[in-house]
Amino acid sequence: MSTSETTAPEPITIKEQAPVLLSHLAGFVAQRTVVLGLRTGMIKTLAEAGEGATSDQLAGRLGFDPWYVSVWCQSAVGAGLVDRDGDRYRLAPHVATLLLDTSSPAYLGGVYAVLDSPEVFDWFERSLASGERLWWDQTSPDWIAAVSGAGTPFYTRLIPGGLTQVPGLAEALAAGCRVADTACGAGLGIVKLAAAYPGCEFVGVDGDAHSIDVASKRITDAGLADRVTLVTSPLEDMDLSADPVAVVINNISMHECRDIDKVTENVKAALEPGGWLVISDFPFPDTDDGLRTVPGRVMSGIQFFEAQIDDQLLPRVYYSELLAKHGFVDIGTVSLTPMHALTFGRRPS
Ligand SMILES: C[S@@+](CC[C@H](N)C(=O)[O-])C[C@H]1O[C@@H](n2cnc3c(N)ncnc32)[C@H](O)[C@@H]1O
Repeated sequence: MSTSETTAPEPITIKEQAPVLLSHLAGFVAQRTVVLGLRTGMIKTLAEAGEGATSDQLAGRLGFDPWYVSVWCQSAVGAGLVDRDGDRYRLAPHVATLLLDTSSPAYLGGVYAVLDSPEVFDWFERSLASGERLWWDQTSPDWIAAVSGAGTPFYTRLIPGGLTQVPGLAEALAAGCRVADTACGAGLGIVKLAAAYPGCEFVGVDGDAHSIDVASKRITDAGLADRVTLVTSPLEDMDLSADPVAVVINNISMHECRDIDKVTENVKAALEPGGWLVISDFPFPDTDDGLRTVPGRVMSGIQFFEAQIDDQLLPRVYYSELLAKHGFVDIGTVSLTPMHALTFGRRPS
């Protein structure tokens, strides 16, 4: 008889289970410590204090109560955000990049702001019984800004690094072509694309009028108005066939389509023969083990908002099947981080 047939797993004890729950409390404290540090400028001020600062100096620089600041510093040490040397506090290695540097592909600060927003857990709880759904136009400008912050490193990893991993695409972009950013949100991606590919023209489509207003201002401020057209429209109604594009990019939004098959058909119709669709999205775990990883748990947090707009993040493989179903060819995938994957395909020539 083999061992696997005779050995039943030992039931987990309360002593083993309690630390699992306690680690969640510790994570909650760390999350609040980060958000507090970001919102009040304590993390930024420590980043600027090259040799570190005492908590009194930090309080003095920001006009805060020294006792309260010392309590924050202590929690920041516990959370591994800050190192202490005598009475001086200094940001731990790479924390400034991860939490403050919006140009870094590793930037994480935006996700903290998203998960701290009332739209995620508070609104979910409020609607738990009614099941009431919402749409982007009912969310706050702070929420749109937070989402745009969380989306920024996705665009940073995509442009140009991720796009160069799609066979043939970098050459087309370098030569100059028309590119659509579908669900362009607040326009950050278009500005990055326009800087990376000076020979290209862009169309940004989004269903939320406020996001398009923010995008329009950003694009005008960047001096790009002559290379960009913005359209307020659900992707389910998008029709770019009069002026087709060579590339369609969709960043962290494809899972939100209310009719994803219709959108995929509209994208196909918008593409020139041989044109590329690149879906850049969260690869949601499709196993319980995956859900229990750190990325899986963070993505499960995002699902509380997605549920309210009537969707969920999707497993990465779903997109390969979607593109195959709609007749795309040369379908491929690239994993950029555990929370970011590309799926791409071409309209047949
Ligand atoms: C998570 S945000 C991402 C925005 C942007 N791509 C970024 O990464 O910053 C999702 C965006 O998709 C838009 N959106 C979602 N579903 C849509 C649909 N069916 N048609 C048009 N826009 C849609 C929303 O209005 C919102 O601006």
